[in-house]
This record gives sequence, structure tokens and C-alpha cells, in this order.
Amino acid sequence: MKRAAAKLRPLLKKPQAEESPFAADAIKGLSAKPKYMSAKHFYDAEGSRLFDAITRLPEYYPTRSEIEVLRDKAGEIADLLPEGAALVEFGSGSTAKIRTLLAAAPKLAAYVPVDISAQYLEAEAARLRRDFPKLAVLPVAADFTKPFELPAKVRALPRAGFFPGSTIGNFEPLAAVAFLRNAARILGRGAVLVIGVDLVKDARTLNAAYNDAAGVTAAFNLNLLARMNRELGGTFDLSAFAHRAFYNRERQRIEMHLVSRKRQKVSVNGAAFEFERGEAIHTENSYKYTPEGFASLARQAGWLERALWTDAAGYFSVRLLTLKRDF
Ligand SMILES: C[S@@+](CC[C@H](N)C(=O)[O-])C[C@H]1O[C@@H](n2cnc3c(N)ncnc32)[C@H](O)[C@@H]1O
Repeated sequence: MKRAAAKLRPLLKKPQAEESPFAADAIKGLSAKPKYMSAKHFYDAEGSRLFDAITRLPEYYPTRSEIEVLRDKAGEIADLLPEGAALVEFGSGSTAKIRTLLAAAPKLAAYVPVDISAQYLEAEAARLRRDFPKLAVLPVAADFTKPFELPAKVRALPRAGFFPGSTIGNFEPLAAVAFLRNAARILGRGAVLVIGVDLVKDARTLNAAYNDAAGVTAAFNLNLLARMNRELGGTFDLSAFAHRAFYNRERQRIEMHLVSRKRQKVSVNGAAFEFERGEAIHTENSYKYTPEGFASLARQAGWLERALWTDAAGYFSVRLLTLKRDF
């Protein structure tokens, strides 16, 4: 009897949500019905490494398609960037894509990669400095959904934004508009934004991209539980959860979930959470847009579409936006 009480005590402790944004969001999301987590929390150093592995999977067409466009159109894109500008990349990750643009745009004065995954960001910035010794590489570890400061060195420069990887698709459409407004404020008058947006397509291609045969996307999804175990004293048994991803045609989005394989109780940051068998944590949405659908969303945030390029298969779009004059 005594032993059972001692075992339960940590589970009954009050949640300590104020400790960190990750802890606060974990407690909030796991207490909700249905349970959810924000996709930004996938990205600790291990999450960034796993995402990088996803981009090399045969089923994961978005990276290949976007790189095809960036490679073919690099000259055209570079011509539309302001002379001597600082290029701010939102969610820079592995910096694989920016290399194509940087090589075509020697007129850029500085590159500011912004990412929430601080350790990975610093390592990638160091690699980039070695490969582009004349470029000022000024990383900012920040959550781009919140206000953040650009480095003092670039405040007087004209600015361009780069937001590849269809990371915009991880936002609900209203939050995507809010992000684009915030990007407009950060980049300022006269700015351009080059943005990668995944397109609506057949469900088979979409479902395959998020359910790869090697199980890397499953490992990426499950790393969220491993991260809660590492950083928040979580007690998740990873083998008791399954990766589920599917295309929700009505809402034009891929949904990712982690599904409990059995009835179980888990503790995170001192708080207890119960799972029914089959109950899921909704971990990510990845919205897909039509060519017109995204242009109209961007307009709501004050951006006009000046150019739209797609890969040969028509899977993925890269757009160049400029701010409305009265913004
Ligand atoms: C889908 S990946 C794309 C990575 C890379 N830009 C690409 O195109 O392959 C999303 C990237 O954005 C970063 N990220 C996600 N949410 C973020 C947030 N709220 N603030 C800052 N970075 C974020 C992640 O760490 C990750 O590097």
C-alpha cells in the first residue's frame, strides 16, 4: 500500500508549466481534448537531424521539387533581390537550400538564419561561414512566431526574406496570415519574400511522403515523446505509441498523430496524463495550397505575388512576394 502511494506521488504534483515554453506547451497540449503539441517542438538537435534525413528520403518529394525550382530559377530570383540586402531565412534548418541562392546572389551583404533549434543553427552557420567567407553570417536563435530582434549590423540594410520547406503549411491558415504580417514588420518597407509552398496533389503521393518505408518520419514524430522524456522528466514508453499520418482532403492538409497502443498513464514535468487505447496526440498539420489559394492568403497579410515557379511535375511552388505599397 505504502509503495503504491509513493509511486503515485510524483504524478500528483502540480504542473510546473511556467518552467519553459516547451514545458508550458506540453502541459497545455496534453491536458487538451483532443491532445495536441505544436510542431515547432519537434526541433531539438535530434529532431533537426531527423528532419534532415527526411529531406533525403525517396518518398519525400518536397525538398527535391523545391531544390529543382531554386536551382533552375536562382538567377531570376537573385535579380529580384535588393542590392546589398540582408537575407533573413525563417526556419533555416540544414541551410541546404540557401546555398543555391547565395551562390547566385553575390550582391547580398548578410545572411541571417533564424531557427528555434539553437545548437543545430550554430553548427550550420559555422559550416556556411567556411564556405562563404565573404558573407556576414549572423544567426538568431528565436521562435519566429514571437517578436524578435534582427542583429544590429543589418538594421540599416534593405531586407529580403526566405521561407522555404513549406514550413508555412505547418500553420493554420489564420496563423499563416499572422506569420506573414509579422514577417512584413520584421523585413520592413520595400522587402521581398521568397517562400516555398507545397501544392495540393493526389493523395497517394502525399500519403507516401509522410509514411516512408524506412520509418524516418515515424522516428521524427516519436522524437517528440523522447524529447519530453529527456527535457521534462517524461515517462513515455515510445514502443507504446504509433506514428499515424494521412491526407485530410477536406481540409487540404497532412495530419500527423501519435496514437497510444494501449490504455496507459504517463507523467510529464510532474503532471499525470491518461491515454485511452487508440487516443492520439495531434502533432503536426502540413497544409497544401492551390496556386491561387496561397496568393489570396498572402494578400490578406499585405503581400502581392510577383512571381510563381513550380517544378516540372507541378508538385511544389516557390513564390516571390513584395509588400503592398500602403503597408
Ligand atoms: C520543415 S523544417 C524546414 C527546414 C529548411 N528550411 C528546409 O526547407 O528544409 C522547419 C524548420 O523551421 C524551424 N522552426 C519550426 N518552427 C519554428 C519556430 N516557431 N521558430 C523558429 N524556427 C522554427 C525548425 O527548427 C526547422 O529547422
